[in-house]
Amino acid sequence: MTNKTNTQKKLYIKTWGCQMNVYDSSRMADILRPLGYAQVDEPEDADMMILNTCHIREKATDKVFSEIGRLKIHKDNKEAKGGKMLMAVAGCVAQAEGDFILKRAPVIDMVFGPQTYHELPEMVLKANGNERVVNTEFPSVTKFDSLPLEQQQGPAAFLSIQEGCDKFCTFCVVPYTRGAEFSRPVDKIVEEARMLVDNGAKEITLLGQNVNAYHGTNIDGKTWGLGRLIESVAEIEGLQQIRYTTSHPRDVDEDLIRAHGDVDKLAPFLHLPVQSGSDKILKAMNRKHTADRYREIIADMRKVRPDIVFSSDFIVGFPGETDQDHEDTMQLIRDVVFASAYSFKYSARPGTPAANMAGLVRPDVASKRLTELQTLISDQYLEFNQSCIGTTTQVLFERTGKNKGQLQGRTPFFQAVNATANERLLGEFVNVKITEASAHALVGEVEVV
Ligand code: SAH
Ligand code: SF4
Ligand code: F3S
Repeated sequence: MTNKTNTQKKLYIKTWGCQMNVYDSSRMADILRPLGYAQVDEPEDADMMILNTCHIREKATDKVFSEIGRLKIHKDNKEAKGGKMLMAVAGCVAQAEGDFILKRAPVIDMVFGPQTYHELPEMVLKANGNERVVNTEFPSVTKFDSLPLEQQQGPAAFLSIQEGCDKFCTFCVVPYTRGAEFSRPVDKIVEEARMLVDNGAKEITLLGQNVNAYHGTNIDGKTWGLGRLIESVAEIEGLQQIRYTTSHPRDVDEDLIRAHGDVDKLAPFLHLPVQSGSDKILKAMNRKHTADRYREIIADMRKVRPDIVFSSDFIVGFPGETDQDHEDTMQLIRDVVFASAYSFKYSARPGTPAANMAGLVRPDVASKRLTELQTLISDQYLEFNQSCIGTTTQVLFERTGKNKGQLQGRTPFFQAVNATANERLLGEFVNVKITEASAHALVGEVEVV
């Protein structure tokens, strides 16, 4: 029913930040498609440009302004030719800074936060009438009820099931930029998952800022947790693999652990951010669990799914972190053994409780700790990747690979794999024998059947 005329308008979206933002960008494209916008890869000559921004670490706002300065040329060029380009800032910086962005950057036409994307058609209408738009509401009607069901996603699709965060870790801006926790109802999620599979998805990643805090209502009025939801999604025929991200140790319950044992379609990979291995620092971060509780979860997961591998997030240099606290983190890493991880230097975020805490760690000390931690972890994932050489594993080819004639995908353990393969295998699960491994990627050969 879309209005496909040859006057199609070009939409350029640049995305920073977490998987939620990547997902939001694709949903913005979905909602703008019926208005005649088709997504393009380059900013030149676009009719609309959206910067989907992230506020998680330092200088986020400055970076957005310098990016606006850099990309403004495309708008100027377009206008010089008598055309028009709408320029928008979306995402978490938009939420945090609101109309300050309009004041400081006259080139910007629209500023809107993550909970308002379903209102894009009205905002575009206003902006086209030369009205500058700011929308940072947390509307009472959820955007999920008004976003179109139709989506353009590949074989590995994402499905947002939960949003927002009520945890208020003392270092984090997300509860302020994304708002309170909200879980979508079970039937809406299952319906959307079916639609994605009908449209070619073989794998679905269930998404949420705190995905395992999921507590959605089923049609019988009962509340379901993530474990139960995964079991239900797994019943969809044609769906071959399920993942979820990002989870919090505090919300790992028995149902979720059981799902890892019972649901074959659930990938043997879990991203479970821990941030620190020191109980003192975990407490100051308001994570509300201990390092030993984390070890216990890992052990419970391994009991039901022995081949499962783990990934995590770490922050070094949180206020008050001593050498001993850092050593506790290193010990946790040695104990657990990770298959991948993201690690960051603590960055004070205005408005968060940790920003006022005493005990600042010197930047050079934080850098040294970060290097130490990253060296240990990258040794761990090199070892894991190398242990895969010679094994055959199912890879979902998602895109063309680095070199010509290659396809790229991921193993169930979330390792990136490149393999020489015919393009008709794109979007398929294929048996691949691993032949080479580095810390960050694998090379394999397609097994001939
Ligand atoms: N909800 C997830 C994390 C979301 S933010 C969780 O609770 O684990 C993604 C990661 O960014 C965090 O896990 C943390 O490691 C990092 N991060 C968040 N705020 C930060 C800050 N102020 N400084 C440095 N890293 C931060
Ligand atoms: Fe941020 Fe903590 Fe919420 Fe994760 S759980 S989004 S780190 S406040
Ligand atoms: Fe960044 Fe917002 Fe995600 S701050 S990490 S884009 S929730």
